[in-house]
Amino acid sequence: MPDYIPGFANHISTEAIPGALPIGRNSPQRPAFGLYAEQLSGTAFTAPRHENRRSWLYRLRPTAEHPAYTPYRGAPRLAPGTTAAPLAPNRLRWDPIVDAAPGTDLIDGMTTMLANRDPADLEGVALHLYAADRDMTDRVFMNADGEMLFVPQQGRLDLLTELGRIEIAPGQIALIPRGVRFRALLPDGAARGYVCENHGALFRLPDLGPIGANGLANPRDFETPVAWFEDRGEPVEVIQKFMGSLWTTTLDHSPLDVVAWHGNLAPWRYDLSRFNTINTVSFDHPDPSIFTVLTSPSDVPGRANADFVVFPPRWMVAEDTFRPPWFHRNVMSEAMGLITGAYDAKAEGFQPGGLSLHNLMAGHGPDLASWQGASAADLKPHKIDGTMAFMLESCWPYKPTTFALEHSQLDYDAVWSDFPKAKLP
Ligand SMILES: [Fe+2]
Repeated sequence: MPDYIPGFANHISTEAIPGALPIGRNSPQRPAFGLYAEQLSGTAFTAPRHENRRSWLYRLRPTAEHPAYTPYRGAPRLAPGTTAAPLAPNRLRWDPIVDAAPGTDLIDGMTTMLANRDPADLEGVALHLYAADRDMTDRVFMNADGEMLFVPQQGRLDLLTELGRIEIAPGQIALIPRGVRFRALLPDGAARGYVCENHGALFRLPDLGPIGANGLANPRDFETPVAWFEDRGEPVEVIQKFMGSLWTTTLDHSPLDVVAWHGNLAPWRYDLSRFNTINTVSFDHPDPSIFTVLTSPSDVPGRANADFVVFPPRWMVAEDTFRPPWFHRNVMSEAMGLITGAYDAKAEGFQPGGLSLHNLMAGHGPDLASWQGASAADLKPHKIDGTMAFMLESCWPYKPTTFALEHSQLDYDAVWSDFPKAKLP
């Protein structure tokens, strides 16, 4: 079982072998054991101190030692780009993706569904699905385009990263920073889920405003793994996503060879059941921003490049209130996934492992059955239980990939048909 250190973006020092970590300096003339010192930057060198994120790694070989990358021909549905055709302003929804073809690992089993902005803009997000049934044994993945937030929906993931090992199960999430190499083992033999890829400012905890010093996702519940490494001298393929394309090279060793590291840029995991859900105790459904776990700000204050939001189990107690999410049109664009259970604004058709898209200004809200049920409900305190949906909300409208456009549900608009007209006196 991996060991973890609690806290979010803390300055951590960890070594897998005693004495591997230099004391009092980052780059001594001769690091212990002949290790190579290497800085991994998550922000520009000159980012303000409170936003500056970087770590120092002490490894068996320098990352610089690698052959040239050539185009990677696998992962046919990962990062294919979006269509140049005009995008209709339609609401879209998808059933869970078909399970992996036998022998597919996490990387070849990824399907890009939605993306906005070019990774070279250093802004925007992409949403991928994955379905895999094979461990990554002799290859690793590295994403130069952004950090990757894993949201398992079925099956556990054992993420072996340069900075430590992370185990997650559905209901937990894990983040791998931009550039950190990793491979994924599948302890349950098969796995399915979502990946939120963030090209913009690093995900951080949102400001809490009048909520106060505590609440929502609390920093102590994030867990960063201690240093761990493998000393393997056999060929290991490195697949890299760079500027929206996939590239490959082969090393004669595993690059997961960081013996010690210190810094505040590192992978972490978080259990969504630890989320301190806050909601109304009087009336009205608050804006869904009350459910924000992580935010990636844009350059415009309050307008997120991306918010990762969850809809966890919670008590509904509002009086004289339509309790599910209301009808709305949003300047932000909303992509939603479902980890387990049912979502309270959609009675059917939105399955765990599925996906929906309500883009810029698309009218949406409860479907007819949910509206009828909630409008007639006896407003006793009621627990929504056994559910966990998430939303990746972005200020940049999403473009579905060609694959996504070809595989969406055909009748999604029908969930909002046949609403009775209001009756004037
Ligand atoms: Fe919405």
